[in-house]
Amino acid sequence: MSDHHVIIGAGAVGGVLAARLIDAGEQVTLVVRPSRLDIYQAPDRLRLEDAEGRSLVEVATPDIRDRLPETADIVYLAVKHTALNAVLADLETQLPAGATLVSCLNGIGVSERLRQHFPRHPVRQLTIMFNAAIFSPLHYRITTHPGLVLDGPRDALHQTLRQAGFRVARGNEAIARGKLLINLNNALCALSNTSFRDLLLDPDLRAVFMAVVDEAIDTFNAAGLPWRLPMPLPYPLYRLLVRHGGRLPWWLARLNNGLTAAAYPSMVADIRAGRPTEIRELNGVISELGRQHGVSTPLNDTVVTLVLALEAGEGETFTPARLRRKLGL
Ligand SMILES: NC(=O)c1ccc[n+]([C@@H]2O[C@H](COP(=O)([O-])OP(=O)(O)OC[C@H]3O[C@@H](n4cnc5c(N)ncnc54)[C@H](OP(=O)(O)O)[C@@H]3O)[C@@H](O)[C@H]2O)c1
Repeated sequence: MSDHHVIIGAGAVGGVLAARLIDAGEQVTLVVRPSRLDIYQAPDRLRLEDAEGRSLVEVATPDIRDRLPETADIVYLAVKHTALNAVLADLETQLPAGATLVSCLNGIGVSERLRQHFPRHPVRQLTIMFNAAIFSPLHYRITTHPGLVLDGPRDALHQTLRQAGFRVARGNEAIARGKLLINLNNALCALSNTSFRDLLLDPDLRAVFMAVVDEAIDTFNAAGLPWRLPMPLPYPLYRLLVRHGGRLPWWLARLNNGLTAAAYPSMVADIRAGRPTEIRELNGVISELGRQHGVSTPLNDTVVTLVLALEAGEGETFTPARLRRKLGL
């Protein structure tokens, strides 16, 4: 018998998980906010397409509710950090006994928070390695290979996600920190209104990206926090490629991750839509760690300030060259 997967958040990540799990024959319930229930229940199909608009999955609208069902095997948190407190409050009263909690949020620290809140429940970290977007309720696009990193053993959940068509690698806290390092590019794309492709091809963005990551690595090292990139590449080689590898980083990202020109970090979409971003949980975490451990983090501090200004509608976007000058690089 298949597990009952309950996915909180029917946005880009929740939608891709739902589409592939349903297509693989798993039982799926999507949980949305009460104010949005009608909107998400209106379409008669859930659709997932690739970067060229080709259909990958098209299934009948699944079970969609505005609260958790009474039973569940796996409960995925597929919301942004801005919604986390509200979701935790809902889980306090609605989390079914015995359910495994799976955090899909970017950044670090959510799994630990879940363990403290819900000590009786197993908690897993599912690091999302794919890029996806939502066009309209239940209509999703994935613009890379469907990669995931799941911490813990290669168990039934690992197997289920593989059978649902995901490429699943095993992870741990060091790899989650490595993913945070990569995610520091999100803010740079948001500040320059650029795609991942632009980031990997533009020399100014590449220089800024590596400087921001170097600063974050110094901070992790000072804090005694191990980190590892979520790809089979030692950091010095990754750095060399990004700084001096010409078009190679873009080609490798296309080959390994299936990255397409249509892939934008979700922070770009947040800024365009006037939504709060996850800057505090990405570059903001590096600034905070730096303060705690006496490491100065001027680049990440400035990036946070600039994105917060954009969020507040008071900031501006920069050309890559201007962003580099603004950061003194
Ligand atoms: N998108 C990507 O490519 C990607 C890649 C890697 C990692 N991630 C990470 O994955 C996490 C989720 O990102 P996302 O891109 O899926 O975000 P998203 O597209 O904005 O989806 C989040 C969804 O959460 C819903 N939501 C908000 N509050 C809720 C609540 N209280 N209960 C239930 N649902 C609620 C929102 O619903 P409404 O529609 O009602 O606003 C929205 O649809 C983030 O931490 C992100 O950084 C995303």
